[in-house]
Amino acid sequence: MPKTEAPRAISLIVLAAGAGTRMNSDLPKPLHPLGGAPMLAHALAAGAALNPARIVVVTGHGAAEVEAAVSTHAPEAVCVRQDAQLGTGHAVLQAADALAGFDGDALVLYADTPFIRAETLSAMVAARAGHDIVVLGFEAADPGRYGRLILDGDRLLRIVEAKDATPEELAVNICNSGLMIADAGSMMDLLAQVTDANAAGEFYLTDVPGLGLDRGMKATAILCDEAETLGINSRAELVKAEVLFQARKRAEAMEDGVALAAPDTVHFALDTFIGRDAIVEPYVVFGPGVTVESGATIRAFSHLESAHVGAGAVIGPYARLRPGAEIGNDARIGNFVEIKAAEIGEGAKVNHLSYVGDARIGAGANLGAGTVTCNYDGVMKHRTVVGAGAFIGSDTMLVAPVTVGARAMTASGSVITEDVPDEALALGRAKQVNKPGLAAKLMARLRAVKAAKSTDKKG
Ligand code: UD1
Ligand code: MG
Repeated sequence: MPKTEAPRAISLIVLAAGAGTRMNSDLPKPLHPLGGAPMLAHALAAGAALNPARIVVVTGHGAAEVEAAVSTHAPEAVCVRQDAQLGTGHAVLQAADALAGFDGDALVLYADTPFIRAETLSAMVAARAGHDIVVLGFEAADPGRYGRLILDGDRLLRIVEAKDATPEELAVNICNSGLMIADAGSMMDLLAQVTDANAAGEFYLTDVPGLGLDRGMKATAILCDEAETLGINSRAELVKAEVLFQARKRAEAMEDGVALAAPDTVHFALDTFIGRDAIVEPYVVFGPGVTVESGATIRAFSHLESAHVGAGAVIGPYARLRPGAEIGNDARIGNFVEIKAAEIGEGAKVNHLSYVGDARIGAGANLGAGTVTCNYDGVMKHRTVVGAGAFIGSDTMLVAPVTVGARAMTASGSVITEDVPDEALALGRAKQVNKPGLAAKLMARLRAVKAAKSTDKKG
């Protein structure tokens, strides 16, 4: 039996210290949003698929803000600071202390190349078998200022930066994406040898394969599609990237078995998850944090954010699910309904013109048109609880904190300020009084007044 080696542990080093001058923005480049998430979260998400042992993010420009975003999107990551941006090699070297005692590979990613696919990273890992250093390259339509991969067959001899390249080297169109994987200790040892004796006066990460070769190491390159290595340097590129991101998410959703009636009009976020056989009608926006289970339907013009939609539920048209909306299986959320921080039980219905916030609605309950949970007293938020099978009459104001029991009813137009026991009917409105003939009398009087006024004017 051939000896099968245990897979090597992998740590990620994400470079996020650069200035991003061409964005012309106070917001650090790694934080500009793409698919509803900071750009940096995309590379982290792809890297997470490798189940990394450690994640190190190198910060510099706007470090405090970038670190805050890292703690939200990858709380397990460690941030290290690169105080002066002396080059990509210098940036990677800043991760050395954070990787002390780590026995495994280091994979370098850029915070500003968000389209790298997890499959490509796995291919780099696979290529490590038999090679000490693996670089991700691509065939460039316009090689421009990219570093060039100098290859001999599948052996990578070195990487030469455009600024330092000879005309022959500039004619090479196999370019460096910037991603590299090697044993973490070896990478740091080689980086310690890198100098800034080059056209840019920077410490280049790209010197690593050449230095490795001098020490008898084997380097190779694998190639990916150019679109995957797309970097974002300006706002125009960010807009193009958003278009590309949306196209990719739409294609993925359809591959996952989601029915998109008009894909080009549906807007996704990085973490949108939609189950098989779910239907998404035209003009739907998924903000961050949305999960839709199998067989649910999101009807046209609905807007969802940090919400969960259960199997078979129907949302919209024109519904708004705000953060904390938990829609149970087979529930119905209809037109012009807003749900926030509320659990809607299985099969419950909130079909028309309602606001449900800070609430729990029991299974099978029916909230009539215009139901409002009055959750805010101007200072604090309060909860509303509606029991299973309750029937809330149209235009009921549920003044929280308040509980309506199971199978209870509220009369239309009620203002409910006190708890309603199970199976009780609550009437919280002025009693109706009918005055026979009074409508006709009132009309006659008003018409007489109007007629008198117009004779005055003529006379
Ligand atoms: C780099 C590569 C080049 C490659 C190109 C692909 C080097 C020397 N060159 O060039 O071969 O074709 O990427 O896009 O590596 N960063 C830091 N600290 C620094 C410098 C950079 O964190 O001191 C970060 C940046 O924020 C960015 C990444 O490293 O995320 C790449 O830096 P950038 O300046 O864009 O490198 P390029 O000149 O594009
Ligand atoms: Mg760049």
